[in-house]
Amino acid sequence: MKDNAAALIQLDRVDKRYSNGTVALREMSLSIARGDFVSLLGPSGCGKSTALRMMASLLQPSSGAIRWPGDKTGAEAHARDISFVFQEPTLMPWATVFENVYLPQRLAGLSRARATDDVKAALALVGLSRFADVYPRELSGGMKMRVSIARAMVTRPRLLLMDEPFAALDEMTRAKLNDDVRKLWSDLGLTVVFVTHNVWEAVYLSTRVVVMAARPGRVIEDIPIDGPQQRAEAFRTTSVYTDQCVRVTQSLKETLSHADVDH
Ligand SMILES: Nc1ncnc2c1ncn2[C@@H]1O[C@H](COP(=O)(O)OP(=O)(O)OP(=O)(O)O)[C@@H](O)[C@H]1O
Ligand SMILES: [Mg+2]
Repeated sequence: MKDNAAALIQLDRVDKRYSNGTVALREMSLSIARGDFVSLLGPSGCGKSTALRMMASLLQPSSGAIRWPGDKTGAEAHARDISFVFQEPTLMPWATVFENVYLPQRLAGLSRARATDDVKAALALVGLSRFADVYPRELSGGMKMRVSIARAMVTRPRLLLMDEPFAALDEMTRAKLNDDVRKLWSDLGLTVVFVTHNVWEAVYLSTRVVVMAARPGRVIEDIPIDGPQQRAEAFRTTSVYTDQCVRVTQSLKETLSHADVDH
């Protein structure tokens, strides 16, 4: 794959075979540009989480390479510029919202005094400034997820990786968090890779939707998404939006029919 100066991270023919022999990904190539909002969409087991974990250097490819073309400092250095948000908020129940958001800074050796401004800024980003002293049990599911996002943002990452972050939330909360993540991305010039099973969510959020198939996990289609930079609820009722949802659904259906033929 040719180096692309605008690319933040590239997967170049990455294979991932787990020790039990499962081929989670085969020849996955993907270039993520700075400022992209890329959703990985595909059936269960197609390697979405595996791809994300390799981008975060939590897993190593079995073959192929992961590159950061604009920078020569190496993957280790980049690990510090990356934050991860999982489906479960994974908050410490015995600690306040402030303490939970402070955790990455604490682990990096920053004193509470030095980290306080960053923690406050991260809480403000997700609209939880007034909840710093509250414990997780006092929060709704959506608010817990906001704390999890604040904890991810406190280190000011360049790349935010999100693995089905809103799958467990009700529709209204999910739609609100979609707007908030899209705004964070737009306001801060972030690069986001977002894993979801939900076509409507993927199209609403993304600049590109990458459709994957399983057994072995691979990229089937990389679909650019049209839409205004500022998206709000009204976008969901436009034909630009619904037409693209139909288009992406069609691509996803094809991945399932491939799987049927295989088995
Ligand atoms: N640690 C592991 N050891 C062995 N096999 C694994 C491991 N983790 C994942 N797999 C397998 O690798 C394949 C890809 O898994 P992965 O979790 O990346 O898929 P996914 O697209 O995230 O699925 P889902 O939508 O269910 O979250 C699956 O067949 C899975 O069973
Ligand atoms: Mg997964």
